[in-house]
Amino acid sequence: MKDSLNIKTTKAGQSRLAETDFRDLPFGKVFTDHMFVADFEDGEWKNFEILPYGPISMSPAISALHYGQAIFEGMKAYTQPDGSVSVFRADKNFARLNKSAVRMAMATIPEDVFMQGIAALINIDKAWVPSEENYSLYLRPVMFATDPVLGVRPSSSYKFVILANPSAPYYSNPLRVKIETHYTRSDNGGVGAAKTAGNYSRAMLPTVEAQAQGFDQLIWTDAKENKYVEESGAANLMFIIDGKIVTPEVRETILDGVTRDTIILLAKSMGITVEERRVAISEVLEAIENGTLTEAFAVGTAATVTQISEISYEGKNHVLADPATRTVSPAIAKKLNDIRYGVTADEFGWNWIV
Ligand code: PLP
Ligand code: COI
Repeated sequence: MKDSLNIKTTKAGQSRLAETDFRDLPFGKVFTDHMFVADFEDGEWKNFEILPYGPISMSPAISALHYGQAIFEGMKAYTQPDGSVSVFRADKNFARLNKSAVRMAMATIPEDVFMQGIAALINIDKAWVPSEENYSLYLRPVMFATDPVLGVRPSSSYKFVILANPSAPYYSNPLRVKIETHYTRSDNGGVGAAKTAGNYSRAMLPTVEAQAQGFDQLIWTDAKENKYVEESGAANLMFIIDGKIVTPEVRETILDGVTRDTIILLAKSMGITVEERRVAISEVLEAIENGTLTEAFAVGTAATVTQISEISYEGKNHVLADPATRTVSPAIAKKLNDIRYGVTADEFGWNWIV
């Protein structure tokens, strides 16, 4: 990492902190006072700035709006017992953002722009990082194409912005999910492994339809046969079958989740066997029926570790073991939280004190 980026800072006139109710933080709605912005122009990143959070003026012709060159990340910062702030596994999000950029034919971001942008934003908005258990500062880096040109080709200019939200966990209750077999989220050769806007927009109608049927979320299946479990709308999936964690292997149709990787490493360190492989819907349903599936949960930065209480497939609802009786995933989630909040030693070196 280069030593220091020249970041111009314009402070917000009036902080909104005092008028913010930290007991009421709907996900992604409350923004801190500032944002970090940078531009890619003429083949280089420039114009590094901390600005008051607010609108950015732009041409309605920018190609992100028309052709979807837009990628983002999600990570969290946590207050430590000594009052410092730590960002969890930012190196993984940095690497994934650039992987998404390559897949979407966009400019990549240098590590110093990403890391120093985060550090500058957290330092100026440090008072916004919650300190209560389960709360954190959600960081949302986003990069999008800004050429005001309607020709279909990769943009030559991009804007990179980092936003921050004080946040509570995304889901407050165990999830009722529906296995989706009509619509698909991604396909072989597609962009499923990229964290790109279009993956979320194509999921909206199916998700809204599932919600109208009483479900919280979907379980996406493979586009070819609709036989294998892939992931959820905003999280990866894990099952405990015969005492082992079984999770769909990462492939080009699935987002390679940082939380997924973290849980796998933690589980193995706790002596739990983890199987990363294709997971057939039939295997999950059978294991529910014969009682060998004892836990199912979704894992993600926003979602944290969220229990799944019911799984519906082709109109039949399968009720899982009561989430309140589960022990394995809550124990892993506790270990994860203890590391994130600095309560226990960071034996894997995941915390970056900014
Ligand atoms: N899958 C999808 C589609 C997601 O949006 C997310 C959230 O980021 C995840 C998986 C989990 O990834 P991570 O743990 O890196 O947040
Ligand atoms: C995250 O967990 O960071 C996500 O991106 C999920 C979000 C789409 C709600």
